[in-house]
Amino acid sequence: MSDAKIPLAGVIGNPVAHSRSPLVHGHWLKKYGIAGHYVPLHVETTELEQVLRTLPKMGFVGANVTIPHKEQIMEIADQVTDRATLIGAANTLIFRPDGSILADNTDGYGFLTNLHQSAPDWDPASGPAVVFGAGGASRAVIASLLEAGGPEILLSNRTRERADQFRNEFGSRIKVVDWVQVGNVVEQAALLVNTTSLGMVGKPRLRVPLDGLRKDTVVTDLVYTPLKTEMLQWAEDVGCTTVDGLGMLLHQAVPGFERWFGTRPEVDDDTREAALA
Ligand SMILES: NC(=O)c1ccc[n+]([C@@H]2O[C@H](COP(=O)([O-])OP(=O)(O)OC[C@H]3O[C@@H](n4cnc5c(N)ncnc54)[C@H](OP(=O)(O)O)[C@@H]3O)[C@@H](O)[C@H]2O)c1
Repeated sequence: MSDAKIPLAGVIGNPVAHSRSPLVHGHWLKKYGIAGHYVPLHVETTELEQVLRTLPKMGFVGANVTIPHKEQIMEIADQVTDRATLIGAANTLIFRPDGSILADNTDGYGFLTNLHQSAPDWDPASGPAVVFGAGGASRAVIASLLEAGGPEILLSNRTRERADQFRNEFGSRIKVVDWVQVGNVVEQAALLVNTTSLGMVGKPRLRVPLDGLRKDTVVTDLVYTPLKTEMLQWAEDVGCTTVDGLGMLLHQAVPGFERWFGTRPEVDDDTREAALA
C-alpha cells in the first residue's frame, strides 16, 4: 500500500452548506482521476485563526474562503499577493509545506476569464464600463477591469460614500454616478456589470431603467441564482451579448485547484452542470 498523503482542500465559511465549490472541485477531482478531497468547513469567526493553523497539520494543502472571512483572513495570512492586497480580501489560500499561509484573490481573474470565454469579441479597452454596486465583489471586478486597461468606470452604488471611497482608492478612471441617475449613463456602456445582490432569489429586484442599453454592450451579472436574471433577460431582448455569473464562480476556482492538486482544470459545460446539480 502507498503511504502517499491524499491532498485535502475545502471551503471555509459561515454559513457554508449552500456553497457550490465542493460540487465543482469534486467534479474535477473525479474527472482528472485525482486522489484528493474537497469539503465544506463551517468555521466561526472567533476560531478562524486556530482552524487555519491546524488544517495544514491535517493534510490540507489549501482552502477557499467565503463570507464572512474574506477580509479577516488578510490579517492572519503570512503572505498576501498583490492582487489580494489591492482588493482588500482573499478567497484562495495555499498552505506551504512549512505551514505558512499564502492568501490570494482569484475573483477578478474569474470575472475577466468568464467574460473572455463567453464574449470573445469584448475588449476591456474598447470603452467605458458601467458598474452597479460597490461591495466586496465589486472591488475585485473594478481592480481587474482597471488592470486589463479599462479606460473609464462609471460606478454607482446605493450608498454613495462606498463608491466615493473606491474613487479615492482606485483613482481618476472611476467616475461616481448617483444611484438615482445611473439609468442615464447605461447608454455609454461598452460593458455593463451588476455586482449588487439585487435580482438574486430572495432579494429585491434590480429596478434601474435599462431603456438606453445599446445592443453592442456586453452585459454581465454576478448574480447566478437565477442564472438568467431580469437584467440579463432585458439585455438579451435588446440583442446584447450576455454573460451569466456562474462562469465567474467556476473560473475563480481554477487557480486554487491547479495549485492544490497539480492539474489545471477546464471550465466547460460539464463543469456548469456539476455546479448546478
Ligand atoms: N458570480 C460570482 O462568482 C460571484 C462572486 C462574488 C459575489 N457574487 C454575488 O455578487 C453579489 C454581491 O456580493 P458581495 O460579496 O459584493 O456583497 P456585499 O459586499 O454585501 O455588497 C452588496 C452590494 O449590493 C448593494 N445592495 C444590496 N442591497 C441593495 C438594495 N436594496 N438596493 C441597492 N443596492 C443594494 C450594496 O449596496 P450598499 O453599499 O448601498 O449596501 C452593495 O453594493 C451577491 O449576489 C453575490 O452572490 C457572485
